[in-house]
Amino acid sequence: MTDQYAVIGNPIGHTKSPLIHGLFADETKQDMTYAAIEGPLEPEGAFADVVRAFGASGGKGMNVTAPFKLKAFAMADERSERASLAGAANALKFENGRIVAENFDGIGLVRDIEVNLGVPLEAQRVLMLGAGGAARGALLPFLAARPAEFVIANRDIAKANALIADAGARGSVRACAYGDLETMGRYDLVVNATSASLTGDLPPVPPTVFSPEGTAYELAYGKRLTPFLRLARNVGVRGIADGVGMLVEQAAEAFAWWRGVRPQTRAVIDRLTVPLD
Ligand code: ATR
Repeated sequence: MTDQYAVIGNPIGHTKSPLIHGLFADETKQDMTYAAIEGPLEPEGAFADVVRAFGASGGKGMNVTAPFKLKAFAMADERSERASLAGAANALKFENGRIVAENFDGIGLVRDIEVNLGVPLEAQRVLMLGAGGAARGALLPFLAARPAEFVIANRDIAKANALIADAGARGSVRACAYGDLETMGRYDLVVNATSASLTGDLPPVPPTVFSPEGTAYELAYGKRLTPFLRLARNVGVRGIADGVGMLVEQAAEAFAWWRGVRPQTRAVIDRLTVPLD
């Protein structure tokens, strides 16, 4: 029987997941469908009911997007360590009547940077802006890549410190205020994990953090040259990228987790890429 998968979010109209997973399924010859479901925002509990009903009707797995990642995590029977640190799930698997929660956002991000952009993180200086949900998802995969130094800048520094405390002691990671960055030198990679780009804003990052030979990475995708990427380009940063590769790589991780076969990502990334300018 054809296996069923879906992405659930609200709104869900602009999701690229059915296209991405459809291309993966064609390439790897998997007998599966992948739908988009608009999840209910209320009443409380309605989201979990829809997820359980999908699993009970034979669904094998789901991707979860805004605003349901926390609810999906909370309702799961089992959770990966990555999902637990993020407190959020972006992928679920239905297995023997149980719901397993994963979070592939961070690993997709690191894979895009290291494999697709060809920027190994080991022994590099890495700066991440933001300490919200996106940053939480990225922290463990970043630390696993063994950068020489990993700094998290956030307006609310207590939030950044809480994130580091939750991760436990795993390598060289510390929090700082944006104002401290002026005296902290250049970073090989600067990642914008804030939600500032969604409103067209620029985090208060000084241009001195960028290295011309380095990379500036924007988690948002399809928004062309965001204020963050524009700043990086204006100071001469060679490598600038948005999150389209991360989107496809996290999907590939989920696909491999569900199906046991890893799809190719290059052609799918090229197909979804919106030129930055
Ligand atoms: P989510 O969980 O959806 O990522 P969030 O938890 O509200 O949302 O986190 C948003 C992140 O973007 C936070 O790190 C936030 O910084 P603060 O914690 O200091 O508020 C950051 N952020 C949002 N708008 C920003 C802006 N204009 N400049 C800098 N940081 C911004």
